[in-house]
Formats: sequence, C-alpha cells, structure tokens
Amino acid sequence: MLHRPRRLRKNPLVREMVAETRLSKEMFVYPYFVVPGENIVRNIDAMPGVSHFSADTLMADVEKGLQTGLNKIMLFGVGDEKSDDARSAYNPESLVPEAVRLLKKQFGDDLYIITDVCVCSYTTHGHCGILHNDYVDNDLSVELVSKMARVHAEAGADMLAPSDMMDGRVEAIRNTLDAGGYVNTAIMSHATKFASAYYGPFREAADCAPNKGDRKAYQMDFRNPEEALREALLDETQGADVLMVKPGLAYLDILARLKEVSSLPLAVYNVSGEYSMIKAAAERGWIDEQKVVMETMFAFARAGAGIITTYHTKDILNNNWL
Ligand code: PBG
Ligand code: ZN
Repeated sequence: MLHRPRRLRKNPLVREMVAETRLSKEMFVYPYFVVPGENIVRNIDAMPGVSHFSADTLMADVEKGLQTGLNKIMLFGVGDEKSDDARSAYNPESLVPEAVRLLKKQFGDDLYIITDVCVCSYTTHGHCGILHNDYVDNDLSVELVSKMARVHAEAGADMLAPSDMMDGRVEAIRNTLDAGGYVNTAIMSHATKFASAYYGPFREAADCAPNKGDRKAYQMDFRNPEEALREALLDETQGADVLMVKPGLAYLDILARLKEVSSLPLAVYNVSGEYSMIKAAAERGWIDEQKVVMETMFAFARAGAGIITTYHTKDILNNNWL
C-alpha cells in the first residue's frame, strides 16, 4: 500500500505538526450586554453563563477578561428608553456611548471595542428600523443607523457592526463617518445576516423581539446562497472593512464560498441559539462541552473565519481550551 494516511495520525506530535487549521486567542470576540443602573450582574435565563452588566460592573469584568487575553468585545445596549423613532439610539448620553467612553478612558488601546449598530432595542415595535404601514422603511432607517454610528464613533468605538440589514447602510455609514473625520473607525458589516430562529435567546437578552411580524422583509432568506454572496460583495464595494456571516454553524457553506470570492477579513457570529443548545445539552451531561465547543470553533476557522464572535469566548480563554 503506497498511501497510508494513518501514518500522519500516529501520535499527538505528528497530528499537531500536520494540523491544517489552528486557532489562537487573538481571533475571539466576546459580546456584552450593557444595561442601565449600577452594580448589576444579572444572569440571562436563556443563555447560561452570560449576564447583563451595568457600566460599572462591565468595567470590572472587562478588566478580568483582559488578564486572560480577552481584548476584543462587542457591545449591545439593552433597556434604554424605547420610542417609535428610536431617538435614544443616537443620543450621545445613552448607554452604549457612555460605556464606550468609560472603557476607552480606562483601557485605551488595550481594548478593541466593536459596537452593534441597530435600533431594534430602541424601538417600541422591536423592528430594526422605522416602521411605515407595517413595513420597515429602508432609507429612513439608513439615516437613523448612520446617526447612531456617528455617535458611537464619537464616543471612541474602534469598529462599528451594523446588524440592521438595510440596503445601502454601509456606504451611508462610511460617508457619515468620513464627513465627521472618523476615517479610521472601521465597519464590520453583518453582510449576510439570515432571518434565523437561532436568535431566540438573544431577543430575550436584548429585549428586541418584534412585537408584530418578523424580520424576513430585511434579513436574508436562508434558502439563498447566491443572494448571500451578492449581498456580501455589495457591502464590500460600499466600503466594509470586515464581512460577517451570521449565524455560524448552519451557514458554513456561505462562509466557505465567501472566502473564495472576497479577500476581506471574514468574521462569523456564533449566535445565542447555537450557544444555548450546547450549554443545555452539556448541563444534561449529554455532550462533552469543551470538546463540542472546540470542534465547533475549528469548523468556523476551517470554513474561512479569521474572527469568531462567540459567547463561549470566556470559557475558552479562562480554561485554556485552545
Ligand atoms: C438585532 C440583533 C440580533 C442579533 C444580533 N443583533 C437579533 C435579531 O436580528 O433578531 C442576534 C445575536 C444572537 O442571537 O446572538 N439587530
Ligand atoms: Zn436589529
């Protein structure tokens, strides 16, 4: 027998040597939920191990994370005042810009801050834009997320992650940022964000479920891989610095195909439902949490993701699972 593939699997050392995919702590981003108030660390029921933090406890938790190498975070604001026009989303005194200023003051460039840019936690109806006759008006919503983006940039966010899925938002945000002089604030586009049932636990965490209808008129149809590539390349031409695929596990084909057609850095968002499924099965003793988590992370890297946004980040870095 000329070829015996098992030769290269003989022992751990040779397996390490020929491993085609590697992970490092630099790739991981941890999502945080910021709430109003003081001294709050409140567990999120549907996401075991993930909590709501007020700005003060957030600072302390981030400091702990930095000691394990967790230096990239994504911020979501929860619990600000809601209105039909989502005006608190672009209020410079609201939760997220306030938290960004505090974090930047304390940690400076030791911490890389990505903020979620979307208005669904700030609208009374829970949709990701301005509602007009039960339809989310694209161009009005783009204006809104551009204003929100500018406020986050002003506060000192390093990168903005628009997750609303309005057409033309990346270009509008880029223009707004450049006009304001924020030429080095980067954009991580949720380029292909699918209308997914995997967002369930997050909608509880972020209090952003639409109270009527669904998000299918703006988020993507999961039956459409060609459209996904088209959508991602549109964001690339509009000036996105990083392209993201979301959710992760059920969309590895999209990630792998996008890797072939774009040279931009690719990110994956391992979303709340994916996280909670693993946690729930592990709690019941049905799967080995560490092994399943790491197999999943390698799948993302293998498919082409260089950046992994996941709620498992703390477990991975705290316990040296890499
Ligand atoms: C809202 C938003 C969602 C997520 C991130 N931003 C939910 C949604 O679109 O309904 C999901 C993240 C997760 O499930 O972890 N713009
Ligand atoms: Zn939204």
